[in-house]
Amino acid sequence: MAAHNDIAAAAQALREGGLVAFPTETVYGLGADATNNAAVASVYAVKGRPSFNPLIVHVDSAEAAFRLGQFSAEARTLAERFWPGPLSIVVPRAPDCPVSLLASAGLDSIALRVPAHPMALDLLKAVERPVVAPSANPSGRISPTSPDHVRRHLRDKVAMVLDGGRCKVGVESSVVSFLEDGPRLIRHGGIPRAEIEKALGHAVAVETHAVRPHAPGQLTSHYAPRAELRLNAEGPRAGEAYLGFGPLHSHGPWTLSRTGELVEAAANLFRLLHEIDATGVARIAVAPVPHHGLGEAINDRLMRAAAPREPA
Ligand code: TXA
Ligand code: MG
Repeated sequence: MAAHNDIAAAAQALREGGLVAFPTETVYGLGADATNNAAVASVYAVKGRPSFNPLIVHVDSAEAAFRLGQFSAEARTLAERFWPGPLSIVVPRAPDCPVSLLASAGLDSIALRVPAHPMALDLLKAVERPVVAPSANPSGRISPTSPDHVRRHLRDKVAMVLDGGRCKVGVESSVVSFLEDGPRLIRHGGIPRAEIEKALGHAVAVETHAVRPHAPGQLTSHYAPRAELRLNAEGPRAGEAYLGFGPLHSHGPWTLSRTGELVEAAANLFRLLHEIDATGVARIAVAPVPHHGLGEAINDRLMRAAAPREPA
């Protein structure tokens, strides 16, 4: 097996149709050559993801993205302001777009992103192809923010797991769609809505709970730990583990951020859910998290994690 962080070997594996898990600034991605139908299909298979959910296509530069999709002036504004970074932009596919239609789940649109992790960028440059990369976890489970999380579930299903340490952002990219009249925020994520609106100079519509699930983040239950979650809890009840927000508390070792910072809380969210879940506790009570800035993305993930589970 190739050395731990051998980018050339990882790129080769991708070009040959293999899967490579790699770090991004948001979460670890399960990467496959976006132009290879069979490779894209194996992503859905490994994740156990319902096939109507389209995937995000990762590229190494805004220029590469502009060749794959048709960007309006406003879409370009966001690309130029936030890439590389935790924003995905949905636009109509370019007429000659070589990306597998399976990656777009049959839609005539494409979601594009330039990630801000140096190892991800090195890998994308070396592959010289667009790479689909959903979060590297089985569908419906917590997204991985460290290589350990990935190895736990997917070790024997991928050619390689690149180790880039812990993810700084810790929640997935924000997704903005430009398919209708104006921009629509269809998934809360690493770029707070207020920053997107500031860059555009106007408000964006928020449609994160569309009835038609053209986004996996829009399935009601998602990002779920094994344990049940109880939200906005001021403290634990009998039998519950407690995940706080703010200074350490008397109910155990877990807090999203001792200093009450939302950026730190986002970075810790999935890791702590994994950690508490691993103790085998049946219920996790989670402290209230302020609903501004990255708090919107955190609360969104918590609500989905707490939602009634879909039938398997
Ligand atoms: O942070 C991230 O974005 C991570 C890392 C690995 O980069 N990737 C990720 O990819 O979360 P994925 O495939 O799990 O995200 C899929 C999301 C859906 O929730 C949906 O919002 C959006 O991408 N999406 C993708 N293609 C779309 C399309 N054609 N139309 C609408 N939404 C689309
Ligand atoms: Mg995911």
